[in-house]
Amino acid sequence: MNDRRYWEKTGSNYTEEVFNVAANDRRGIIRREIRRASGAFAADMGCGIGNFLPLLSARFQHVNAIDFSAACLRECRSTHATIENVSYLRKDLRQTTRHFKPVDFILSVNALLSPRLADQLAMFHSLARHLKKNGTLLLVVPSVESAMLADHRFTEWYLRTGTSPARAQRIANGAERREELEIASDGIVKIAGSTTKHYLREEIQLRLESLKFNVRSIRKLDYAWDTEFEEPPKWMQEPYPWDWCVVATKG
Ligand SMILES: C[S@@+](CC[C@H](N)C(=O)[O-])C[C@H]1O[C@@H](n2cnc3c(N)ncnc32)[C@H](O)[C@@H]1O
Repeated sequence: MNDRRYWEKTGSNYTEEVFNVAANDRRGIIRREIRRASGAFAADMGCGIGNFLPLLSARFQHVNAIDFSAACLRECRSTHATIENVSYLRKDLRQTTRHFKPVDFILSVNALLSPRLADQLAMFHSLARHLKKNGTLLLVVPSVESAMLADHRFTEWYLRTGTSPARAQRIANGAERREELEIASDGIVKIAGSTTKHYLREEIQLRLESLKFNVRSIRKLDYAWDTEFEEPPKWMQEPYPWDWCVVATKG
């Protein structure tokens, strides 16, 4: 799910195919962070169809909405045609150029998904390059710990419906689920053939610190289990699956 062609194709079916973090942030964590942010200029890096633009444009004087998919940006413009303080920029965040003057606040939600380390590093650098000194980064990325928990819960589900521990363990080890789900030690999660980078909490912390960010908080942005499984059983409650929600300032 990570090259530009994928996101060009997805543009028109975006709402059916792509998980909507804005709609599933049931504790309002991102909403609160945006409301309490300071400064006048913001950017949404990897904005998709702009699910966060209403919030950002209400809080900031001007917002740059950046994405490398023309199809996503088209959808974004037409959905938010009445919002006036947004510039839409079709840019690849892996490029080493600066696309606009550094801003006070950057939001980037599930855009750093490429399985290629070179892409991930280029995009982290891009976040740093476009943020003012002391500016705030609000970054959301998939959690590898959550992917492993979901796998564990799936196995438990088998156990509770009478599957033997031996078979449940084979399933947990992936032997019977290779086609569906595979988690590699570098956090690349393969779901139904599509690969996506997932991050460890400590990994994000170290990566941001290496770019001279001061990490203020790394919290779970948790979702209901039905975002992971179709019709999860009633006993499947807390802990819920999550993305990492990171607040960092640029030093
Ligand atoms: C999962 S979607 C998330 C969109 C949006 N942030 C949201 O939460 O609804 C990921 C978005 O990142 C964009 N993206 C991925 N890699 C990119 C890159 N290298 N440069 C610019 N945009 C990129 C994709 O086109 C896609 O719209």
